[in-house]
Order: sequence, then structure tokens, then C-alpha cells
Amino acid sequence: MSSQLTILGIETSCDETAAAVVTRAADGHGEILGEVVLSQLEEHSAYGGVVPEIAARAHVEALDSLISEALLRSGRTLADVDAIAATSGPGLIGGLIVGLMTGKAIARATGKPLYAVNHLEGHALTARLTDGIAFPYLMLLVSGGHTQLVLVRDVDDYERWGTTIDDALGEAFDKTAKLLGLPYPGGPAVERMAKRGNAERFTFPRPLVGEARLDFSFSGLKTAVRQAAQSIEPVTEQDIADICASFQRAVSRTLKDRIGRGLERFRALYPDVATPALVVAGGVAANAELRATLQALCDKNRFRFIAPPLALCTDNAAMIAWAGLERMAVGLSADDLSVAPRSRWPLDKAAATLLGSGKRGAKA
Ligand code: KG4
Ligand code: ZN
Repeated sequence: MSSQLTILGIETSCDETAAAVVTRAADGHGEILGEVVLSQLEEHSAYGGVVPEIAARAHVEALDSLISEALLRSGRTLADVDAIAATSGPGLIGGLIVGLMTGKAIARATGKPLYAVNHLEGHALTARLTDGIAFPYLMLLVSGGHTQLVLVRDVDDYERWGTTIDDALGEAFDKTAKLLGLPYPGGPAVERMAKRGNAERFTFPRPLVGEARLDFSFSGLKTAVRQAAQSIEPVTEQDIADICASFQRAVSRTLKDRIGRGLERFRALYPDVATPALVVAGGVAANAELRATLQALCDKNRFRFIAPPLALCTDNAAMIAWAGLERMAVGLSADDLSVAPRSRWPLDKAAATLLGSGKRGAKA
């Protein structure tokens, strides 16, 4: 397909309601014309996590006006867009239904094609929108619901090299924060405390470190944190800071080992790729220590380290729009309006479901 394409993207898989209008030029260059993201953080914070029913209702209430707002910001009308892209999985089923049904309704009313987009493909392809990088590359997705290392071979062509066998990394941050009495979401709170802490004080487990497989495991880490806190009760502010710093250190060492092996595997598989790239996505990518660890690892292995702006690392509709555009551009067909939302939908069609992985299955 050669001409410029414009698409309306819709994202409602978890606790962000989002809409965006994005274009893709014939040369592959993308541009976000208008976008808006409404976070439901406040609605859920009292519960210490995302409540599916509350999320679905909040999407229903906000989505129509967010779509109008995104169109307004883009200076386009529905008549100007070539297609609609809506997240249809994985995620919370109530939210997915809201976004996908809205996408279908617009597609039906306007006669435009509908692309039912995998949320993970949105994360995986974002770096091509922001940095224009070429296939193949490696993507590390670290969010509240997923921890995956994925080989991105092409649009619609992914190989999952590693995933968590229990908790997602963001979930480990959130649970650690909760048991230390820190606010939700836990990641930023743990990071803040860690700045004042002694990372050497506690030696927490570094699960699966040294193993050839590239999977992750974080539930033991959370248990170790609980035991450490119990062993020094009553826990002071400084103790909490030390635990947070030690926790973050254990996570960063674990990532260094796992991802380091991934980079080596990539290099062996693609010796001719001159400057390979590691891309990060997901809310945990905001963490400065983890970023610094990954940056240093990439420098050492002569990989480019690409961290898109945080607003595009976390859930948003521009990435869904972009994934739709990429699918259109390579000639993948639009979806039938009978397409159903899927709470589970692995990117890698051949990957086996690992016991316990993504059991929360809610966030990506
Ligand atoms: O991608 P995201 O915004 O949402 C979904 O998971 O859908 O990721 C949220 C996760 C939460 O678990 C949060 O605690 C974590 O990202 N997070 C962080 C930081 N900021 C957010 N984890 C570690 N350090 C941070 N600075
Ligand atoms: Zn996500």
C-alpha cells in the first residue's frame, strides 16, 4: 500500500481509556495527530489494584467524548480516517467489550474497515512509530500484567523468548509496596523510597539467574520481602527504604542476567544485524535504576537501547492506532465485525502458556 493512511485508535483493555488519530506516510513515517488518555488511577487506588467492573463502567462513561476529543485535536473528522483500530485483547474483558463494540459501531456507521488489535502488538511496534527502527529487534515489556522478552521479527510475527512464570514485574513492585504500607501504584513509591535506602542491607533472591531459559519469576522475591520485614519488626522508615533499595537491586540484577542472555541469543541468531536494538515498554520502564541497568547492558553488548517517551511506554491509543496502520500497510486484512474480544491472546501463536503466567491476566 503506498498512499498516506490515517486511522482512529481505541484502547480500553485495562485502566486507561484512550483514543488517538495517527497517520502513516508511504515511507513508513508515523505521526500522532491527536491523542488523549484518561487514567482511572483515582477510581482504583482505594482498592490497591484495578477493579474490573469499575474499569468497564469508567470506559463506557468516558470513551465517546475521548474519541471526539482525539478527533478534534487531530483536526480530522471520521470522514477523513481510513480505518478504525480497537484493542480486542488481551486484557479485562469488560473494558475490551466497551472499546471493541465502540470500534465496531463506528466502523459499521462509517463503512470503514475495523482492525482488532492485540494490545501487545501495540507495545511491540511503538518503537517504529517513535524511532523508526527496522525489524528484527528485541522488546522487553515490563508492566503491571506482563513481563515478556519478545523477538519482533515483523508485523504479526513474534517469538516469545521469555515470560514470567508467576507475578509480572509491576505486580511485584505493587505487592511489595502494599506489604510495606506504601501507596498504589507501588512502582513509583518503591523507587522513591529506594533512593534513600541501602541496597546492600538485604540479599533478596534473584530467581532463575544463571538458567539458560529466558523466563522470569518474581513471586519468591515478594515473599522474601515479607519475611525480611517481619524479621525486623517494628519496621522504621529507614528499614523500608533499605528493603526497597535491596528489592530494586535484586530486580535489576535479575533483569541484567535474563536480558543479557537474550541479547547474546539475538546476536547469535542475527550476526549480520549491525546495530541491533532492545526496546522497552510498560510502566516499569519508568524506573531509573532499571533503565540505567538496561542501558549499561546494551552499551556493553553494542545494542541500541530504545525507551520511547513514557506516555507511549504505558497504555495509550496511539500504539493501537499505529499497530493498525502497520497491519494495513503490509496488506493484512481487516477484521470481520463478528470478531470477539479475547481476555487472553498471546502474541506468539506458538508459545505455550506457562503455568501461572499472567494469572491476573488483566493488564498488559
Ligand atoms: O504499563 P502500565 O502503566 O500499566 C499496566 O500495567 O497496564 O504499568 C503499570 C505498572 C504498575 O505495576 C506500576 O507499579 C509500575 O508499572 N511502575 C513502576 C514505576 N512506575 C510505574 N515500577 C517501577 N518503578 C517505577 N518508577
Ligand atoms: Zn499495556
